[in-house]
This record gives sequence, structure tokens and C-alpha cells, in this order.
Amino acid sequence: MMSHIRKLANPAGERNKQPILEVLSKFLDKTQPGKKLLEISSGVGLHTAFFAPHFPNIVFQPSEYDTSLFGSIDAYRMEANVPNLQSPIAIDISRPCTDWDNDHNVNFNSSAESFDYMLNINMMHISPFECSEGLFWNASRLLKKGGLLITYGPYAVDGKLTPESNVQFDISLKQRNPLWGIRDISALKKISSANGIASKQIFDLPANNKCLIWEKVADGSVIE
Ligand SMILES: C[S@@+](CC[C@H](N)C(=O)[O-])C[C@H]1O[C@@H](n2cnc3c(N)ncnc32)[C@H](O)[C@@H]1O
Repeated sequence: MMSHIRKLANPAGERNKQPILEVLSKFLDKTQPGKKLLEISSGVGLHTAFFAPHFPNIVFQPSEYDTSLFGSIDAYRMEANVPNLQSPIAIDISRPCTDWDNDHNVNFNSSAESFDYMLNINMMHISPFECSEGLFWNASRLLKKGGLLITYGPYAVDGKLTPESNVQFDISLKQRNPLWGIRDISALKKISSANGIASKQIFDLPANNKCLIWEKVADGSVIE
């Protein structure tokens, strides 16, 4: 597929980047050097380019399944012009990290428990449930103990999806692809706890979205 070489627009991302940054600022360390953050499904690349300058001690690694977006991710990266923002790498989060392509100076076979943070914005509802399962499975292997997975998007809570606009959004997603749909936090908690990851905090953000903070609580060695 042809790679776009210019920044692609993402109006929703432009609206949600500041509220997400405010949540990140509560949890991401700003002092200790050498911290590492892996973003899954970076889209056009605007989020990491916006966040990285605020956390110069953290190396931000964007990634995408759709490699035609690499040019846009790189265009945002070049505009941000900060040393702690890497070029994008290809990641299909539904696959185990041990199978990921290692041709990017990031060897995921030897990256077990090497990331302090993982970030995933607006992917779970617009991809098959295997991607949500893969996100927690891979986070349990790639995060250090005490590391955080931060996810953002619309979510249902204990079987209830509100308001009506999110119900309609969920219907439209399922019409586009029956495997898509807004995920319930209780279903996500089941997958997370099976992977040694606990729900730590939930923030209500504008436009009926939430930011969920998950913490890896188990030692890697106890995870099968
Ligand atoms: C709605 S976009 C969100 C992109 C970006 N995070 C944002 O907020 O602008 C959903 C993203 O999920 C990605 N995606 C779909 N399937 C995926 C997979 N198997 N692994 C990783 N990312 C995937 C798509 O390529 C797309 O970039």
C-alpha cells in the first residue's frame, strides 16, 4: 500500500489529545530518564507527536497495523522534532509479541517486561475483540511489573452503554463490521485479570469517552 508522506488530519484526535494529556500527566513519570512507552494503533500519528515533547525522559514508540499510515506518523514526528520520538513500527496487536516483525531495532523477543507504559487510543471498539485480548496479553509480557497500560475510547459499564449517541454509534460500528463494537469494561477486566493486569482508575472524559488506567500487578514469571 502507498504510504502517505504528509500529515493526515484527525479531527477527533485534535479534540481528545489535550484531555488525554491531562490524564497522562497524572501517571507518567516526568523525572526519571530512560522510561519507555509503546503506543499501539497510532493512526495518523498525532498523539505521540503531541505527547512526547511533554515527557522528554520517556522514549515514545508509535506503531500501526496499517503501514500506509507510516508516512503520516513520520510527518508528525518530524514536525515535533524531539529526540524522544521514534519512527513507527508495524504491530498487529492481535498477534503475540513473540511473532512480531523484529526488523526495526526493537526486538520484541527480548523486550519482555521492558516497557514502562503502553498506550492505546480509540482502537478496541473499531477492531475485532481479538485485538482487545491481544492488547492485554501483550501488555502482560511487555510491561514491567507496576507498568501502566492506558486505554481511551467509548466503553460500556456493567452492560450499560450511555448516552443514546454511544448506543447509536455502537449500532453503526456493528453494521460496518459485525466484529466491531463498544467494549464493556467488565469484559475487559476479565481479560486483564487473566493476564495479571488490574484496573487502577477510570476517568470520564469529554464526548462520552473514558480513559482507563490499567496496572500490571503480577510478576512476568507467574503469567503463563
Ligand atoms: C479509529 S483508529 C484510531 C487511531 C489513533 N489511535 C487515533 O486515536 O487517532 C483505529 C486504529 O486501529 C488500528 N488497528 C486495527 N486493527 C489493528 C490491529 N490488529 N493491531 C493494531 N492496530 C489495529 C487501525 O489501523 C487504526 O489506526
